[in-house]
Amino acid sequence: MPEVCGLFNLFRKKAEIDLSRLPVHIAIIMDGNGRWASRRGLPRSAGHAAGAETFRSIATYCRDIGIQYLTVYAFSTENWKRPEQEITAIWDLLRKYLLESIQKMAKERVKIHIMGDVGAMPDDIRQLIYETERLSRTYSGIQLNICLNYGGRYEIVRAARNLAADCAAGKLQPADIDQALFESFLYSAGVPDPDLIIRPSGEHRISNFLLWQCAYSEFYFTKTLWPDFSINELNTAIAEYQRRERRFGGIKA
Ligand code: FPP
Repeated sequence: MPEVCGLFNLFRKKAEIDLSRLPVHIAIIMDGNGRWASRRGLPRSAGHAAGAETFRSIATYCRDIGIQYLTVYAFSTENWKRPEQEITAIWDLLRKYLLESIQKMAKERVKIHIMGDVGAMPDDIRQLIYETERLSRTYSGIQLNICLNYGGRYEIVRAARNLAADCAAGKLQPADIDQALFESFLYSAGVPDPDLIIRPSGEHRISNFLLWQCAYSEFYFTKTLWPDFSINELNTAIAEYQRRERRFGGIKA
């Protein structure tokens, strides 16, 4: 009966979340793939492959319940310090995912947006990214933001540099720069800030993820390693989010 029990648990947990008050935007630091693999005596690449499967199932569930934006941290500007073999394994998974997405896109109407400096990515992946973004531009389903070669500090510096260049060129005056204009120079331009940020694997830090955008996000931390993160646990995170009172610096209404 384990499958029946699993289904029962899924519905029991699902009943805890209020589908009319879902977070608009969920962001996830997909952490713990390496530890998941080493606990099983597997290479780290096997952990990333399992993590990519978890991403697929969580993204599908988010789409099905009506989450509008899902942002995941897949590769940071600091991840280049990892062994080349591990980096290649992540590119392979990404290549596979983008190719699959291109094939399924017309049916699923999922919008894909890459956040990060794609200039340093392998040529074929860069082309796949451009193609995926071009094809999905007009779709109105869930928007998946995949952070690749992404760093929050770099994103802010890049925006400042581009604003400074526009000022130097006379297109803008420094006094024109307010928060809304600044945001429009970030990778996340047009995307609402994340309501809920999930970090699995027992770490309690932000690790250079969405530094500007997380100003008023709610955080959910769990010891679960990303490959083991389930729909059940996502429901638990959403239920916890729904119990919190968000004041955005104000006072209780
Ligand atoms: C962090 O875990 C995970 C990564 C740096 C890579 C995440 C990449 C994927 C899940 C696959 C590709 C993504 C898509 C969207 C198809 P870690 O390696 O730091 O784990 P550890 O802290 O246990 O070592």
